[in-house]
Amino acid sequence: MRSKASIKGHPIHPILIPFPIAFLIGTLLFDILHITSGNRSYRQTAGYLEIAGIVSAIIAAIPGVIDYFKTVPPNSSGKKRAALHGLINISLVVVFAVAYVLRDNSSTTLIIGLEAIGVIMLFISGWLGGTLAYRNQIGVDIRYAGAGKWNETHVADNKGLIEVATADELKTDQMKLIHIGTKRIVLGKTDSGYFAFDDRCTHRGGSLAGGTMICGTVQCPWHGSQFDCSTGVVKAGPAKENIAIYPVQELNGIIYIKY
Ligand code: FES
Repeated sequence: MRSKASIKGHPIHPILIPFPIAFLIGTLLFDILHITSGNRSYRQTAGYLEIAGIVSAIIAAIPGVIDYFKTVPPNSSGKKRAALHGLINISLVVVFAVAYVLRDNSSTTLIIGLEAIGVIMLFISGWLGGTLAYRNQIGVDIRYAGAGKWNETHVADNKGLIEVATADELKTDQMKLIHIGTKRIVLGKTDSGYFAFDDRCTHRGGSLAGGTMICGTVQCPWHGSQFDCSTGVVKAGPAKENIAIYPVQELNGIIYIKY
């Protein structure tokens, strides 16, 4: 799914995270250099790197938090993974902050121990972040032939007919994500007309709006489950449950979903 914290479709969080990774690992390396060489200038450099690492981690967290709330599909395995990723990141920043506070009055061995724990947490968090980016495709702006630009809108949560698009807004095989309050519904245009279905894949909660829709079938981007857009029936697993569908009406060039 396209990131909500992005510049022209380029997600900001991955652009910023190399800085805290480099600074915080550098902190540990320079403290090790200090203890092995006895040269105090290494210790001073480590202190500066630690401040830079903590500050840049906090800055990098801002687009990450935005993506957590606005981009990662709700009620999904990716949401749990993203929560764990964020929790580990907060914890490791606290560990490095404690190491910095204790730096002048504690043994270098204790400081290095804390920083080593922080770096291990950094690797675990990076692993989870990699899974979020490369498997869950959080922040990936998917383009298949004729998919058009990422398209989504928020509408009021009124029961009954809800206006969601104009009749000529989508071309065949294009989708639009509709947020109705906290509910996420996909409007898709097939050769047979418009259809509306749940955005949430019944396997592990992948966003179908971030997937591919061709010939009236939508494919989840996470593990490839396929659903019939008109009936919601599973055409290919691993999903076993059908997705919910919603009636669509066209009146005077406007598309409405009955919800
Ligand atoms: S979440 Fe696994 S196929 Fe959709």
